[in-house]
Amino acid sequence: MFAVYASAPNPESPLDALVVGERPDPEAPDGWVPVTVTAASLNMHDIWTLRGVGIKKEQFPMILGCDGAGTLPDGSPVVLHSIIGDPAWFGDETLDPRRNMLTEKHQGTFADTVVVPARNAVPMPEGLTPAQAAVMGTAWLTAYRMLFSKSGLQPGQTMLVQGATGGVSTALIQLGVAAGMCVWVTGRTQEKQDVAARLGAHATFPSGARLPERVDAVFETVGEATWGHSMKSLKPGGVIVVSGSTSGPAPSADLQRLFFLQLRVIGSTMGTRDELANLLKFVANKGITPEIGLELPMEKAADGFRAMLDGNTAGKIVFTR
Ligand SMILES: NC(=O)c1ccc[n+]([C@@H]2O[C@H](COP(=O)([O-])OP(=O)(O)OC[C@H]3O[C@@H](n4cnc5c(N)ncnc54)[C@H](OP(=O)(O)O)[C@@H]3O)[C@@H](O)[C@H]2O)c1
Repeated sequence: MFAVYASAPNPESPLDALVVGERPDPEAPDGWVPVTVTAASLNMHDIWTLRGVGIKKEQFPMILGCDGAGTLPDGSPVVLHSIIGDPAWFGDETLDPRRNMLTEKHQGTFADTVVVPARNAVPMPEGLTPAQAAVMGTAWLTAYRMLFSKSGLQPGQTMLVQGATGGVSTALIQLGVAAGMCVWVTGRTQEKQDVAARLGAHATFPSGARLPERVDAVFETVGEATWGHSMKSLKPGGVIVVSGSTSGPAPSADLQRLFFLQLRVIGSTMGTRDELANLLKFVANKGITPEIGLELPMEKAADGFRAMLDGNTAGKIVFTR
């Protein structure tokens, strides 16, 4: 079948490991279902996979794509939940020590067909196109959990999103606006700040700029490049929710500020199947149109990878079949 895959880990030149070609048809084990993929979205995780981060060498070649939308054999449309854990695990799947994500152990969604446990194919609500539904399973789910399950923010409070146009950032902006937060955003260029403003951000700032006042919560996926600014931007008792570290994982901790202002730092990863189902309902109820910056046929996936690697994002990058 057609597939976009990583041939081998390549830390220095990840795009050299990207192949648009053919892989064997998958077989669905007992309890798993084949899903005919209609759309899937690109996440930074796919670039980490090409670099060999978070995946064992013996797992290559690996079909990329950790979220998507498609149809079951009976034609019903579904959205994919990417976390695959121990079937005996009870409770929050993201806390299962044996869990993995599509593309870490099991083949991903940039292909004609992906196989997943039956419970990972979540019914797709009406009102979303396949491309819009495809972005829900990773970036939007991560943003939903950060905002609604982890931050403790109340409607009306002020949240700062570091980064304007990335997948998780645009999801945080759109979800925060819909939930009644005051949403402030930093972006690396005026053009990027303009995207955030168009999505409803109440104020935008250049990366690292001094804010007019301190905020209740900061949402971090950038890491070293913005961490110091995130710490300085918080009110006493404020919270940073962090789910990524694109620019580097080891910023200065600024411990004196942390304890003196009683700040909290909370890690967050992906989300549960229930959170995905609730996210889909929230998006449908609020009539949110998820921002897609670039939509390409899957055969042209390399153009999307190049755009993400170069930081040329303006919302999610989606590949369609
Ligand atoms: N823990 C999880 O479950 C989870 C899930 C999804 C993603 N993530 C992680 O979250 C991160 C973002 O993923 P993504 O898919 O949203 O990536 P993306 O679409 O490429 O977005 C990257 C974002 O980072 C910002 N950025 C990058 N370098 C920056 C710098 N030097 N200074 C300021 N801002 C910078 C960009 O801001 P501009 O808009 O200003 O360019 C953009 O908003 C990745 O590290 C990814 O691995 C984690």
